[in-house]
Amino acid sequence: MCGIMGYVGPQDAGPILVDGLRRLEYRGYDSAGIAVTNGSIHVRKAQGKIVNLEALLKREPLSGSVGIGHTRWATHGAPSDANAHPHTDPTGEFVVVHNGIIENYQSLKDQLAAAGAVFTSETDTEVLAHIIAREYDGDLVEAVRSTVAVCEGAYAMVVMSKKEPGKIVAVRKISPLVVGLGDGETYLASDIPAVLHRTRDFMIIEDDEMVIVTSEGATVKTIEGTEIDREVLHIDWDSARAEKGGYDHFMLKEIYEQPSVVTETLAGRLDEDGTVWLEDVAFDDDYVRSLDRVWITACGTAFHAGLIGQEIFRRVLRLPSNVEYAHELRYADPIIGPNELTIAISQSGETADTLAAARQAGESGSRMLAITNVVGSTLSRYADDVLYTRAGPEISVASTKAYMAMLIAQYLLALRLGSARGTVDKELATRIAHGLHRMPAAIEKTLAAEPDTIRAAEEIKDADDVYFIGRGLDYAIAMEGSLKLKEISYLHSEAMPAGELKHGTLALITDGVPVIVILTQRSVYDKTISAVQEVKARGGKIIAVAYDTDEEIAKHADTVLRIPDMPDLLAPVAAVVPLQLLAYHVARMRGHDIDQPRNLAKSVTVE
Ligand code: AGP
Repeated sequence: MCGIMGYVGPQDAGPILVDGLRRLEYRGYDSAGIAVTNGSIHVRKAQGKIVNLEALLKREPLSGSVGIGHTRWATHGAPSDANAHPHTDPTGEFVVVHNGIIENYQSLKDQLAAAGAVFTSETDTEVLAHIIAREYDGDLVEAVRSTVAVCEGAYAMVVMSKKEPGKIVAVRKISPLVVGLGDGETYLASDIPAVLHRTRDFMIIEDDEMVIVTSEGATVKTIEGTEIDREVLHIDWDSARAEKGGYDHFMLKEIYEQPSVVTETLAGRLDEDGTVWLEDVAFDDDYVRSLDRVWITACGTAFHAGLIGQEIFRRVLRLPSNVEYAHELRYADPIIGPNELTIAISQSGETADTLAAARQAGESGSRMLAITNVVGSTLSRYADDVLYTRAGPEISVASTKAYMAMLIAQYLLALRLGSARGTVDKELATRIAHGLHRMPAAIEKTLAAEPDTIRAAEEIKDADDVYFIGRGLDYAIAMEGSLKLKEISYLHSEAMPAGELKHGTLALITDGVPVIVILTQRSVYDKTISAVQEVKARGGKIIAVAYDTDEEIAKHADTVLRIPDMPDLLAPVAAVVPLQLLAYHVARMRGHDIDQPRNLAKSVTVE
């Protein structure tokens, strides 16, 4: 996830681009850059936040009335001046910024290198600039079109050339792109808020479309070249809402970003037959076969993602796996050996407890794999191997999309380990891959049922206590649902395995006490229904999360939140979504500061 800007018009492009990038900084902030044309192309870029770019522009100013800009969230190559966008071809005549991932960039890069190309960065973006320059034969649009034809992935790219001044060509393949229409000037951006203070008239570019931007406006075409009559959308959001992309809170925006987070986290890593490619994971099959155990360590929501990982590794790999809270593991004097892989999970990669536990595992001789969202974070630098989630910056303290990406990362890891150990055969790998590729659509469908979660939120918003139950993977989801609810709604909630209820907590179930049950695991369905009946017998109110094909549950539950039917192993990916929405709506109804709940911080860098 990165931020893209473009400008064509009578004004100096530089300040407009930088201003837009500042408003897009939430999309990424490890480096930023701009390029403008005035006869030739001039590029300025700097590692770090946009203030660094501004300082550079003060020292080395540039001017020109056509330009493109970018704020980066690293995916290929560490955050650095060299890897910052924009990137040019070797002649400096073509310049590109891009958001997303070119999945086959390595093979494209190898082909170019074999033909003599020399690269100055580790990015997939620079490969685009090289290809466009090679394809150019007097028509920038055609050159971009031919480039798109050889690139696989989910991305948006924006291209400018000194050979065709006064024009920007952009393409959207999944990653967002909008055009802002001014009076004699036109803007391009990843998101409406970047230029909403300059214009209220927008064209939304859809997937597989191309747009040619000049000062006179924008022409939208399919990638193949058919012109599209795109209606102009007039936006009347206020500025606070605009910053959140039209959502009332970052949390809701981030919940809705989850389908594309799944797409991005899978991009270039999972073939249809379940073969997995993990770019920063270096261990070989012999090492994987030698493993006796997997440890997973993390805190909070990342720990809950680890609970899912533990269950998947046990079930799919038949490999002993233990998830431990990092703050417990670091003082538990655990017996971790060299034949044991430790996986540390952390969105920020800066959580003090997780760092300490990871170090301790490393010192015990265990290889350490980090699952983190932040390229260059302390955890990623310490780890032997890194599996980056590609959720983009998460602003809301309550984690949602980062959790989602952690789940997807662990499915990928299970496939990678399972194929090496021979516990995942081709048929199972293909089934899991197929299911994962269908997950963005399944999440979309679950999000469409948001009105049901609003009704359920009405039912529990005044409760004193809420209980979450489930078995196996459903228990792991119950834990996350409970944490989400308590951290933003300040309602007391507790999660437990469904079978545990009768061992004590049942004493607290009286008339109207809400119990949220997750019911996606068919092998233990009847067992969980028994717990539901125990609750009903005491007057408890049942809210169930269940497949849309599950007719039985309607006989037992007061309210059912539906998810699409899918393999049970993958169900956590969809089942968490109604619980995130439920927590969000309860907190909203109770009037809380959703994005910054009391007493909490986004990154806990102290013990
Ligand atoms: C969850 O919504 C919280 N933000 C919190 O539990 C968080 O997951 C935990 O502090 C760990 O953070 P990390 O993933 O950055 O390590």
